[in-house]
Amino acid sequence: MRTYKIAAIPADGIGPEVIEAGSEVLSVLAQRAGDVRFEMTSFDWGSDYYKKTGVMMPEDGLEQLKPFDAIYFGAVGAPDVPDHITLWGLRLPICQGFDQYANVRPTKIIPGVTSPLRGVEVGDLDWVIVRENSEGEYSGHGGRAHKGMPEEVGTEVSIFTRVGVTRIMRYAFKLAQSRPRKFLTVVTKSNAQRFGMVMWDEIAAEVAQEFPDVTWDKMLVDAMTVRMVKNPQSLDTIVATNLHADILSDLAGALAGSLGVAPTANIDPERRFPSMFEPIHGSAFDITGKGIANPVATFWTASQMLDHLGETEASERLMRAVEKVCAEGILTPDVGGGATTKEVTEAVCEAIRGENI
Ligand code: IPM
Ligand code: MG
Repeated sequence: MRTYKIAAIPADGIGPEVIEAGSEVLSVLAQRAGDVRFEMTSFDWGSDYYKKTGVMMPEDGLEQLKPFDAIYFGAVGAPDVPDHITLWGLRLPICQGFDQYANVRPTKIIPGVTSPLRGVEVGDLDWVIVRENSEGEYSGHGGRAHKGMPEEVGTEVSIFTRVGVTRIMRYAFKLAQSRPRKFLTVVTKSNAQRFGMVMWDEIAAEVAQEFPDVTWDKMLVDAMTVRMVKNPQSLDTIVATNLHADILSDLAGALAGSLGVAPTANIDPERRFPSMFEPIHGSAFDITGKGIANPVATFWTASQMLDHLGETEASERLMRAVEKVCAEGILTPDVGGGATTKEVTEAVCEAIRGENI
């Protein structure tokens, strides 16, 4: 029996609803496999915890998470807590504290989900965005002086290091190499930003030498948005800075039909620490408690988690089940259906139990 210890942090808004759905699906996958077990431990950290204690997670939060094999994360954000507190109090300290420097965001059109792009079908859009997840525009360097005065200044400094850029570039080239097209697009803004971004371009060219079988090209981030919309078939694996990839991955999710299906993995490729898996969508207060949150992103990120743990068979089975259920039209309202979170979850569990999955 292979046992994996998973830390669940459902946190805010629809987070608990989708993490509950994901946990159910994981336990059915384990039953089906017979030789795998997921031992889930839930942590009540997040905005409610903040309102009670003044912190989003306890001071020794990272220590508590260290012994786990992976972290399954819901969403953070609450209407009455400033966003920079929820973000810098929980999700970013985990990503940065565990040096989860590779943020991996696959996008494809799931059967049954319609892309807003005319004529773009399943298979036409099949991308993985690799987001640098430890530095860049999210380094947290900056400050404000003369607060509230007419001469107030605010700085927000992006930090790009050779170590940081080289390791994410290597990760992206390796990932591109593992995909059938062996094709990577490196995104920067090196026409306007002459230092860090030019360094990105140079390091890309250096790392490319290590991967002679990977074809690669370069795009400026503004032109990239046009290419994603006009010529989605021309892209495969994409690497970009923390902020650029943040923006591009929202666009990617929208082009694939809904942010409700988009997953993300925060990976420590060196496996010194647990990696963290989450849906891209936020806490969505507008639909919290209504039972209609789309659990597909949380299932898809569970499949990324299974891949990371080496449970490829379960990972593939889960995605086949999700695709089958979506193709049958069992969809939540955000992707044009009328099903509830529970109905989609039940259908996916049923499909996993089925013989031919
Ligand atoms: C994401 C989100 C976060 C980010 C927000 C919640 C700050 O948009 O995971 O893409 O920008 O990192
Ligand atoms: Mg984002």
